[in-house]
Amino acid sequence: MTDKNKVAAELERARRRTVLLTEAVDDADLVRQHSPIMSPLVWDLAHVGNQEELWLVRDVGGREPVRRDIDELYDAFKHSRRDRTALPLLSPQEARKYVGQVRDKAMDVLDRVRLDGSRLAADGFAFGMIVQHEQQHDETMLATHQLRLGAPVLEAPAPPRAINKITGEVLVPAGSFTMGTDTEPWALDNERPAHAVHVDAFYIDAAPTTNGEYAQFIAAGGYDEPRWWSERGWAHRQEAGLTAPQHWQRDGDGWAYTQFGRTQRIIDDEPVVHVCFFEAQAYATWAGKRLPTEPEWEKAARFDPATGRSRRYPWGDEPPETRHANLGQRHLAPAPVGAYPDGASPLGVHQLIGDVWEWVDSDFYGYPGFSMFPYEEYSQVFFGGDYKILRGGSFGTDAAAVRGTFRNWDHPIRRQIFSGFRCARDAADV
Ligand SMILES: [Fe+2]
Repeated sequence: MTDKNKVAAELERARRRTVLLTEAVDDADLVRQHSPIMSPLVWDLAHVGNQEELWLVRDVGGREPVRRDIDELYDAFKHSRRDRTALPLLSPQEARKYVGQVRDKAMDVLDRVRLDGSRLAADGFAFGMIVQHEQQHDETMLATHQLRLGAPVLEAPAPPRAINKITGEVLVPAGSFTMGTDTEPWALDNERPAHAVHVDAFYIDAAPTTNGEYAQFIAAGGYDEPRWWSERGWAHRQEAGLTAPQHWQRDGDGWAYTQFGRTQRIIDDEPVVHVCFFEAQAYATWAGKRLPTEPEWEKAARFDPATGRSRRYPWGDEPPETRHANLGQRHLAPAPVGAYPDGASPLGVHQLIGDVWEWVDSDFYGYPGFSMFPYEEYSQVFFGGDYKILRGGSFGTDAAAVRGTFRNWDHPIRRQIFSGFRCARDAADV
């Protein structure tokens, strides 16, 4: 039975993050659109409150609406991000007041509701969904911060240094493993049900591809050689004029990158971030490899050959601690490869959770036996669309919003997200 105090603490933790990200800038900045592919931060803020109102206050709690009149403005399906600044949005002051009112009511609902009652309330699922939703928007808001121009406003200590030198590949043996989950209480519909998947033997890189490795691809003319790129990838590379990861710029004979308003030389052993799927795929081809498929990634992350079962996380079943993974915006950059030996999988694959989202070469579909819950717009409407899957979360992802089964998806051209990758290859011929 889920503990109400824990649920309340998770809601409060998410809100502290939202407050930090929205108080870091002034009101003019909150209402500004920093990029046509992102919402103004004030939209995210009120949208987080609106979803909480819809699911916790109205649905689980059966309470009267706080502001039914604004539902349409904050419905992500009604207005594209590009159009959101033109809407009569709540001002920063109104948005703060609104999310506070909703939160008071949601806490009151939590106080009174039975967590063994309706399917939506069972194990605190709806509360978990709202915690994850707010944390996901906190990551989106962090991505908006990365796109905004001007002086730095966010501070965080540097990530830990590498403890071990991690190189090379890990052989994942052929065989069936359990993918997805039936038991994770806050898992979303697209992570369910648990099902057996056979995976042929394959090699996967022990660590994500680093800045230093990626710089070699650039130096080798990787962006000028159509043969490394898929047809669509090359067309996009040409049209978008891609020459390096987003936020990279030439610095003498090397590269610098800008993170949250600060520019410095790239750190060679840090996982590369802000690459699109097509760039990841081109690098892998150039390296004589390929991207892992989604089942391969999940098997590398969860399969324990000693027991034959799938773990919740690479290191075991216990929730992430600071020694396991770079999560939760504690650091505003990926950690160098080798910084989290305690987070490795039983087979010795490192930094699968945290640091950078990893593109995998799979499209977004429901698992066999998929059942939509609690609403179609969560996952189902995206199945079969022009999306590629990303796994494992980034330094910007909260522990509440990622696990071994968690599935993220985005358009293959996107790179404002904290996206990197690692490579794999077939092992059939060894
Ligand atoms: Fe949302």
